[in-house]
Amino acid sequence: GPREDLAGRHVVVSAGGTREAIDPVRFIGNRSSGLQGYALARTAVARGAEVTLVAANVTLPDPAGAKVVRVESARQLREAVLAAAEHADAVVMAAAVADFRPVRQSDTKIKKSSAEPDPIHLVKNPDILAELGEVRRARREAYATRDAGGAAAAGGRETGDGPGAATQAPGDGPHPRVIVGFAAETDDVLANGRAKLERKGCDLLVVNQVGENLAFGTPDNAAVVLTAEGGSVEISRGPKEDLADVVWDLVVQRLA
Ligand code: C5P
Repeated sequence: GPREDLAGRHVVVSAGGTREAIDPVRFIGNRSSGLQGYALARTAVARGAEVTLVAANVTLPDPAGAKVVRVESARQLREAVLAAAEHADAVVMAAAVADFRPVRQSDTKIKKSSAEPDPIHLVKNPDILAELGEVRRARREAYATRDAGGAAAAGGRETGDGPGAATQAPGDGPHPRVIVGFAAETDDVLANGRAKLERKGCDLLVVNQVGENLAFGTPDNAAVVLTAEGGSVEISRGPKEDLADVVWDLVVQRLA
């Protein structure tokens, strides 16, 4: 690629939108096309990264050079993202994850013959982005405890039994080192975005204003990237690749 500033880095990108099954033929879904996530994957490959793309119900062709893991539901997306995140330098959650899923999935197609349709009861899905932040926070604590105790000072692998303790080489720091979320907001975009970044414990939050022909299914996007330190970077309307490159610029800065 033109810049190889992600060479030697492993990044995970989630893309698309989850489907939550009602029965074998029906689901609750959303309008995410996967275009922004695929643009992130393509640009990361071009910049030299090893890329794992977790794709939820995307009909686009696989980006060359990325490892693609296909999933349907939020729970499958969670499994795939958390597994890939174990050794990732950065995770970018561009997927639209359903907040809720039906409590029960019927094993057989629900018939319309019954007089009154049964209501569909929903339960909350796990918040994967928030969980990534939690996992890393626990790892940071485990690292701090280990360092305070003077154990495992050099060489070998972490042997403590704290959360995620056995998963990485010393000196590498708790993974994932950079966590990026996306948020579509219709009103009070910056205030809502700031609150969301803090609630979810991510490092960067890409906030889109939705509702004016932007974002879903279009090749263009405009956004503001909020940083954990309180900063913000405006990205004017343009191709989703351009937005992706700005995100990777910020990730590269944080990894340096
Ligand atoms: O809370 P909201 O859905 O607006 O947050 C959007 C961000 O959180 C996106 O990065 C999305 O991928 C992530 N998310 C998640 N798990 C959920 C809901 C959202 O990881 N259950």
